[in-house]
Amino acid sequence: MPNNNKPIYHYSDLEKHAKGTLSHEVFTYIQSGSGNEETLKDNEQAFKKWKIKPQFLNDVSERNLSISLLDETYKTPFLLAPVGHLGAAHPDGELAVARAAKEKQVPYIVSTVSTFSLEEIADELGDTPRWFQLYWSSDQELTASLVKRAEKAGYSAIVVTIDTPILGYREADLTNQYFPLRAGYGSANYFADPVFRSRLKESPEVNKASAIEELLKIVFHPKLSWKDLAFIRKHTKLPIILKGVLHPNDAIQAVDYGADGIIVSNHGGRQLDGVLSSLDALPNIVQEVSGKIPVLFDSGIRRGPDVIKAYALGADAVLLGRPYVYGLAINGQAGVEEVLEHFLNDVDVSLATAGKSRISELDSSLVVKV
Ligand code: FNR
Repeated sequence: MPNNNKPIYHYSDLEKHAKGTLSHEVFTYIQSGSGNEETLKDNEQAFKKWKIKPQFLNDVSERNLSISLLDETYKTPFLLAPVGHLGAAHPDGELAVARAAKEKQVPYIVSTVSTFSLEEIADELGDTPRWFQLYWSSDQELTASLVKRAEKAGYSAIVVTIDTPILGYREADLTNQYFPLRAGYGSANYFADPVFRSRLKESPEVNKASAIEELLKIVFHPKLSWKDLAFIRKHTKLPIILKGVLHPNDAIQAVDYGADGIIVSNHGGRQLDGVLSSLDALPNIVQEVSGKIPVLFDSGIRRGPDVIKAYALGADAVLLGRPYVYGLAINGQAGVEEVLEHFLNDVDVSLATAGKSRISELDSSLVVKV
């Protein structure tokens, strides 16, 4: 990556170099959180409250970073979190991420608001594992269409983001008056959809601005409630994973309503400011539903020891967010690959120096809260 040809390791350096590459509005859109950014900061701070107690003389010469999830084995201990509008970060956007994911065999959760269609991204991924993140549209027929298209394109799970009945109060974007859909990034899946197209008076190719205004009216579904999950269940055989769980009661409801997994997440501090950090939410949720459905985790993972701590506290998998987006901004596919390479090495070294040789060996006896 362009850093006087020196590799970039530290998260703050990634952030700094991405800042130097992107416009102020786009960098701020990626980096910032909602409100006063308390939750954004807490996501990282929470990791500092937990310390690792390594135990040695365990023969860690052979290590394995793979994980088992929903009857699949994934080679890497993290998946790429769904991040929308990536064409704003780099012209190759999600296609570059997909190529890097394929190269490193990292599963990719593709966002509904991607700048290339889910089919185009699937083509790049080849046989790399992929899940589709769904922003449940208030236009139910469109929602069903998106889910069916994802299933047809080889996505093996539907991740329903539940923490976004509407968009959070993102002061930085409001200050900049920057909204990526209006700026032209993130409508590809809708513009390619026969149901969405049928709703328009003119095609998006003829009148893009009006198509985007139509899209903004239906992108989210504030009326959504637990019983609606049956609608998606009716339209797909794929596992359904709920992203954005912070309350143990929601985790219990997820099990009761037949979800196949949950992701403990506060959307990287971008929805309600003042919610608890994802890591603080994790143990109580694990206590309620562990063993019933997989519990995934994101928000605040910045380096290898964070991954170790999240697994030790009961996560069945973790998602990487902003770090790979900064890699993309800095140097496209190669930039993402470099971030993934460093992360894999960091997790591997962290595992060995914690005295463990498999991710599945990580449990709560390894950590202590200080
Ligand atoms: C996101 N996230 C997100 N989540 C989702 O379900 N659908 C989406 O389209 C997006 N888009 C998005 C854009 C940007 C710029 C960011 C930073 C985040 C949230 C994402 O999946 C994940 O929860 C957070 O990124 C985790 O926080 P950290 O670890 O990146 O700070």
